[in-house]
Amino acid sequence: MYVNLIENRRSVRSFKNTPITADHLEKMNLFLDVLNQSVGPFGHRAEFAMIPVSNHINAEGERIGTYGVIRNPAGYVVGMTKNDREYLVDFGYTFEIFMLDLFSLGVGSCWLGGTFDRKMLSTKFEMNSSFIIPAIMPFGYHDEKPSFIEKTMRRLANSDHKLDFETVCFNQNLESPLKKEEASIYEIPLEMARIGPSASNKQPWRMVIGADGLVHFFIKHTPNYGNRLKFDIQLLDMGIAMAHFKSAADEIGIKGEWKVCEGLQIPVDDPHVEYIMSWQTQL
Ligand SMILES: Cc1cc2nc3c(=O)[nH]c(=O)nc-3n(C[C@H](O)[C@H](O)[C@H](O)COP(=O)(O)O)c2cc1C
Repeated sequence: MYVNLIENRRSVRSFKNTPITADHLEKMNLFLDVLNQSVGPFGHRAEFAMIPVSNHINAEGERIGTYGVIRNPAGYVVGMTKNDREYLVDFGYTFEIFMLDLFSLGVGSCWLGGTFDRKMLSTKFEMNSSFIIPAIMPFGYHDEKPSFIEKTMRRLANSDHKLDFETVCFNQNLESPLKKEEASIYEIPLEMARIGPSASNKQPWRMVIGADGLVHFFIKHTPNYGNRLKFDIQLLDMGIAMAHFKSAADEIGIKGEWKVCEGLQIPVDDPHVEYIMSWQTQL
C-alpha cells in the first residue's frame, strides 16, 4: 500500500471548500493517536495536535497564517519536538507516515516548515526554548484546479524535478554511483526514498549500499539553507526518506532494523556531508 501512496503523493496547497467527512475525521483521529505514540528510528516521540479551521480561523478565533500559500484548508496538524538532531529526524519520519495514512483516505496535505506564522503557534502552545514547532501540516480535499500560488510554489521549488537514482544512491562509497540494476532487493526502497518530499525540494539524502551489505544514510546539507530558522530543517527530510525506505521494505517483505554504525568505514570528503544512520536487513 505505501509504495503506491508514495508514488502518487504530491504536496497539496489548494483545498476544496468542503469539510472533512465524519468517517474520515474519525479515522484521522485514530491515525493521530498512533502518531502521538510512534517513535522514529532513534526512538524519540514528538507531540502533535489537530486544529480544525474555517477560513484559516480556529475555534478560539485565532488565525493560522500561511502567507497566502495555503488555500481553504479544513485544518492543520501542528507538531512539536525538541530542537535536537535525533528528535528532528524522528519527527520527519513519524509525521510523514501520518501524511501517507491521510493520503490513503484521499485527504491531501503539505509539509510547511517555513511559510507559516510560527510565532503565533509557539505562543499558543507555550513553547520553551528547547522545544520547537519544526513544521505544521494543512489538510483537506485536494482542489484539482491548481491555484496561482500552488503553481508558483511548485515552480519556485522545482518540485517536479527529482534527482536521478544515480545521483543519490551509491555503491560502497560516496564516489561510485549505484545503478538501479545493482541495487537488488533495495531497488524499490531506495527509489521510494529518492522521490520523497523535502524542504524546497533540496533532496539532501544520499544512500550508500556498503561493502558490509548495510544501507547507510547520509545527509548532504545545502550550504546556508534555512539559516533564519533556528533548527536544521533538512533533518526532517532525512526522516522522511528513511520512512519511505522502511515502509517500502516492510511492504516487499524485507525485515531489518535501524542502527548507528560507530566507526563507519566510508570516507566522507565533503564538509557538508554527514552520516545519519544505517539499515541492516535480517538475513
Ligand atoms: C520539511 C519540509 C518543509 C517544507 N516547507 C514548505 C513550506 O514552508 N512551504 C511550502 O509551500 N512547501 C513546503 N514544503 C513542500 C516542498 O516544497 C515540496 O515537498 C517539494 O517542492 C517537492 O514537491 P512534492 O512534495 O510535491 O513532491 C516542505 C517540505 C518539507 C519536506
